[in-house]
Parts: sequence; C-alpha cells; structure tokens
Amino acid sequence: MNKQNISIHGEWSSRLAFILAATGSAVGLGNIWKFPYMTGEYGGGAFVIVYLVCVALMGLPVMMAEVMLGKRGRRSPVNSMRILAQEGGYSQWWRVLGWTGVIAGFLILSYYSVIAGWALAYVPKVAMGTFTAINSMPQNEVAGFVGSIFNELVSNPIQLLAWHTIFMSVTMIMVAGGVQGGLERAVRFMMPALFIVLLVLVGYAMSTPEFMMGVYFMFDVDFKSFLYPNCTEASCELSGEGMLAAMGQAFFSLSLGMGAIMVYGAYLPKHASIASTTSVVVIADTSVAILAGLIIFPIVFSNGLAPGQGPGLVFNTLPIAFGQMPYGSFFGTLFFVLLVLAAWSSSISLIEPAVAWLVETGKFTRISASIWSGIAVWLVGLLTLFSFNIWSHVKPLFMFSAFEDKTFFDLIDYMTANVMLPLGGLFIAIFVAWFMKTQIVTEELDSSPEHGGFLIWRFLLRYVTPLGVGLVFLNAIGVFS
Ligand code: TRP
Repeated sequence: MNKQNISIHGEWSSRLAFILAATGSAVGLGNIWKFPYMTGEYGGGAFVIVYLVCVALMGLPVMMAEVMLGKRGRRSPVNSMRILAQEGGYSQWWRVLGWTGVIAGFLILSYYSVIAGWALAYVPKVAMGTFTAINSMPQNEVAGFVGSIFNELVSNPIQLLAWHTIFMSVTMIMVAGGVQGGLERAVRFMMPALFIVLLVLVGYAMSTPEFMMGVYFMFDVDFKSFLYPNCTEASCELSGEGMLAAMGQAFFSLSLGMGAIMVYGAYLPKHASIASTTSVVVIADTSVAILAGLIIFPIVFSNGLAPGQGPGLVFNTLPIAFGQMPYGSFFGTLFFVLLVLAAWSSSISLIEPAVAWLVETGKFTRISASIWSGIAVWLVGLLTLFSFNIWSHVKPLFMFSAFEDKTFFDLIDYMTANVMLPLGGLFIAIFVAWFMKTQIVTEELDSSPEHGGFLIWRFLLRYVTPLGVGLVFLNAIGVFS
C-alpha cells in the first residue's frame, strides 16, 4: 500500500464501525433538542417538508461526497483538501474549506457542550423523581412547575458552568483515546438503546389526549404561513427565514459541511461502499428526528404549551411524560443518559478535524491536541452559557435589524447552521462534481461512470445543491420579496 492510502490516525475496524460512528455523529442534540424546537418555531408541517426535501436532495449526496473526499484524502480535512487540490492541479484555496470547517466545528461544539450540560443536569433531577410531584398537582399547574425547574437551571451560571466543564472534559478524554479506543466503543450499544427508549416514549405520546394534534402539527403543510409568517390584513411579506432554517437544520443534523464526516471517511477501510453506508446513516438520523417530534408535540398540545417557545422545548415537555408515565423515573433517567451519550458521540466528531490536523502538524500528540482544543472550545462556550442568564440582554449585533434581538448563542447558532454549513456543503458539492476527475470519483465510489445512480448523484451535486443553497440564501436576504 502506498503511503497516501493509510491514515496515520488509525482506521475503523469494519464497515459497521463506520456506520455506527457516522450515525453517532449525526444523531445528537440536533435531532432531539433542536429539530423539535425549530419545527415549533417555524410552524410545523411546511418546515418538516422542506427539511426532508433538503435531506434527500442535498444531504445524502453531499454526505456521499464528503465521505468520498475523506476516503481519498486520508487526512484531516485541511490536509485532505490540500492533497486533493494538488493531485488535480486545482487552486490551493480549496484548503480554506478545511479551515472554515475547523472553525465551524469549534463554534458549534462551544454551544453544543452547554446544551448537553443541560441534559446532564437533568439526569439526577429525573432520577431523584423530581417530576413525579406533578401527579399530585392540578393539571393546569403541571407545565408551570416543569418550566420553573428549567428556568432555575438556565438562570444559574455556576451550575451551568459545572455541567459544561464536565461535558467538555469527558469529550476531550474520549477524543484523546483515538479512533478505535475512544470513538468506536462509545456508540456501539447506545444507538439501539436510544431508539428503543424513543419508541417507548412514542407509546406514551400516543396515550396523551392530543396525540393526533401533534401529528397534524408536524405533517399538515401550510406553506402560506411558512412563507408569510407576519401576515396581517394590510400587508403580507415574503420571508425566507423558514426555508433557510430548514436547510441549515438538514446540514446540521447530518453533520455536513464542516469536515466531520470527511474526517470519519478518512478512517474508512479502502474497500467499504459509500452509497449504502451513507444511506443507512441518513435514514437513522431522520427517523430519530421525526420520532422526537412525534413525542414532543403531543405533550405540547396536551398541556397547553407553546410549540414556538425555543431552546427550552424538550426540557419543558419530556419531564411531564417522565412524571406521569409508569416507570417514568427509570425511562427518564435512561433517556437523558442516552441523550448525553448521543451528544458525546456527536461532539467528538465536531472536534476531530481540528485534533487530527494538529496531530498532522507534528507539533502535538493526540493528547495535547485534545487538551488545547478542548480548552479553547470551553472558553468560547462561555458566550453561550451566559446568553441564557447574565448576558441575556446582550445583543452584540443590535445595530443590524436582522440580528437586533440575537444573543451570542443565537448568533453563533445562526452563523454556523445557516451560513457556514450550507456554504461548506455547497463548495464540497462543487469540488466533487465540477472539479474532481470522474475516474477518481468513480474509483472511490466503486461505481462505473455510466451507472444510473452515479449520474443522478452527480446531477444532484452539480445542479441541485448549488441552486438550492443559492436560492435559499437569496430568498433569505430578501431578494425575492
Ligand atoms: N449532527 C449532530 C446533531 O445533530 C451535531 C454535529 C456533529 C454536527 N458533528 C457535526 C453538526 C458537524 C454539524 C457539523 O446533533
């Protein structure tokens, strides 16, 4: 084997190991925490449909492209892009794609760790039976009680700091453990277990009085109010925000556009098939998001909660289920433990591109690279941590009307999910479908250039992804209104 074909960071022990790791990266807070509250904020069905269309027409093809780049490059995204650009004689600017990915991963992980800290904090709360108290309350006080526990947590920076620190420390220990030691072991049992607990919770949701209302909310498509959210009798204004948010969420949920999936592709054994492995990952990720919605919205409507209440949604709804259902404290504890594990298996992929690159510079060991990048992420995370309490009034971009009421957390989330990831995905699509030689691409995909699947895939990357991302961007900045 020539040197270019092996990764210095190690390799997955099998195709299944890659599927588990990539699913571990994709399934996380994005599915269970973010997808439901975004769906709630943007009014339900139309958001879900746009999200699903983006997953199918852009997400899957871009994921294949990203894995393929990693598999060919065999290095951190920064160096893989450098090598691949060299190999084809293209501009060295393509390396920037690796850099922006490292930055996006840092930024995402910085807030991801804070939110995962909330989930960590809920483990002892649920385990101690805090929420069973709602059984002796009148129905109209239940939501208020559950909400007050959440508010107490997020308004206490010291507590949040402790959980954020614990979460980041464990992340760095897992990353330092390396490809097979740290990353692979963690996901093997967790994904199936998470799926089973979600099914149990869907069972609870079906027993709530407003189950069907939750289902309608998620699947009843109303494009008019999606595209014209602030319609009054006097005026209606087209808004592209919902489209942009749905597209951003598709990239976010599938871990695309910043090199996480690329770096996992770099650890793929040479013979593994890309098309079938990525399809499994996409289906698993999408199912978890839909299940989470089917659990949360019936609870929202059965308890008179607001679907558009924002990032606290999961924490204000699920504890009601855990308080009321049989064995609720058991399932609740299990659920939050699994959610934290899912967040960890996503976090390690957010930092892996940076760590792999630091190791490749030759100046760091895996351990020191993990420690330094962990400290940096931890520090940036403080911006998010304080966004929910002592800095909740700080709106850094108040001078721009589009961002005037966004906190640090809102801005970091917006910049990464809605701007950096789709742009990353766009450039990955362009590089693979317009620049790389067909012969190289088909070799890595193990396909022939005339194969129908290959042609469809390349068509989606060549035209649909660039047009889709382009139109959604233009729409969001108001070009069509
Ligand atoms: N996809 C993960 C989730 O849904 C988060 C995540 C992990 C991610 N790696 C990523 C998002 C890379 C964007 C890019 O929770």
